[in-house]
This record gives sequence, C-alpha cells and structure tokens, in this order.
Amino acid sequence: MKGKFKERAGTSTAHRSRTGMMVRALLVVSVLLLYFSGLGQMPIYQRYYITSIPGFTWTGDYFATLRLHYIFAAVLIFAYVFHLVYHWGRDGFFVAGKKVDNYREARNEAGGKGQERFFTLLRLSQVLIHVNILLLIASGIVKVIKNLPAVDLPYALLVMSTALHNLATLLLLVSCAAYFLIRLLQRRNASPVWSDSGVSMK
Ligand code: HEM
Repeated sequence: MKGKFKERAGTSTAHRSRTGMMVRALLVVSVLLLYFSGLGQMPIYQRYYITSIPGFTWTGDYFATLRLHYIFAAVLIFAYVFHLVYHWGRDGFFVAGKKVDNYREARNEAGGKGQERFFTLLRLSQVLIHVNILLLIASGIVKVIKNLPAVDLPYALLVMSTALHNLATLLLLVSCAAYFLIRLLQRRNASPVWSDSGVSMK
C-alpha cells in the first residue's frame, strides 16, 4: 500500500486507500443531501417552520429542493458505480488481515467467541443497504423520466416507482441504523474487534 494509508489487519487495501475513503465520503454526503432534498418535496419544511430559520427560506421552494435532489442523485450514481467498480476484484472477505475466498470460510474464521452471528448480521445489513440504494436509483430514474416534458408513462409504473422510492427511503434508513447498531454491539461484546470488512485484534 502506497503513502500513509497502510493496510491494517482486517481491512482491505481498497477500503483504506485515499480514493476509497473519498468515494465513501461522497456516498455519505450525497445520501444525506438526498434525504434532505427528498423530504423537502413532501413538503414538510414549511409546516415545521424550518423555512423560518434564517438562511433556510429556500427549503420551502419545491424547485430549489428538486434541483438539489437532481444534483445529488447524479453524485450518488457516480460515486456508487465508482465504488462498485473500484472494489470489484480488489476486495473480498478479510478476516484478521487474511483474505479468505468464500463466505463460509470467512464466517468460520470469525466464529470465535460468538462473533459468527455478528458477521452474518453485518453482511445482511450491508446487502440491504445495497438493495435499497439500487431501488432508489432505479425508481428515481423512472421519476426523472416522468418529469421530462412530453413524456407520458403508464399510471401503474408511476405508482410503483413512487411506492418503491418511498419504501426504499425508509428501509435505507432502517438498514443503515441496523448496520451501525450491529457494529456497536459487536465492539462492545467481544474481542477480537471487527472492522466492517473483517476482524482485527485489539
Ligand atoms: C438516498 C437516496 C434517495 C433518497 C433518500 C430519496 C428520497 C426521496 C423522497 C423522500 C422523495 C419525495 C417523495 C416522492 O416524490 O416520492 C423523492 C422524490 C424524488 N426523487 Fe429521490 N431519493 C433518493 C435518490 C434519488 C435518485 C438517485 C434519483 C434519480 C436518479 C431520485 C429522483 C427523485 C425524483 C425525480 C423525485 C420526484 C420529484 C417530483 O416529481 O416531485 N431520487 N426522493
């Protein structure tokens, strides 16, 4: 590993690289701003007096929040695709600094002191995060097409994309909360301590 981002036990090189961390930061920022701008379209900021806060009057403007939503939707799609391509082939299951080639092996290696269940739960929450991001992108693209002038999509598709967008908005929040909760419990419960891509010894 080049530079000061050395490979640590339990973390992949791609996760620790400057590029990997910058893309993750971009993902987090875009998701947070998509929540903020998406909720602005519900619209709730006027009702809860957010628009009265100095500097936040614009949050009551539907087109301002929509523009923000479009900008960060583009940022999310870019960062997400980059993230997948960047980690593809470089990443894998890292347990105690050792790359293991399949899920069963990784889980068994991590199985000491009842850590096995955390491994499975963490992976499950990560899968849910990915599924919900993909659902948001797919349903979001349908909604963008719907908003184009002179486009008339079937009513059933509009209802489905709106329902999926809203459901995934909720489930992404739940799966992120679950992910951080599991990491917290796992750190509290036992040594060795886990990183999100494996186990490291304290
Ligand atoms: C973390 C990701 C995202 C979250 C939490 C999110 C959340 C929301 C919410 C809460 C709404 C308002 C409810 C609704 O109209 O259904 C909304 C609307 C919308 N979102 Fe997203 N969204 C996300 C990503 C995206 C992406 C990636 C796209 C585009 C590719 C997108 C495009 C849209 C569009 C076009 C609307 C409807 C604007 C309208 O016609 O009124 N969203 N989003």
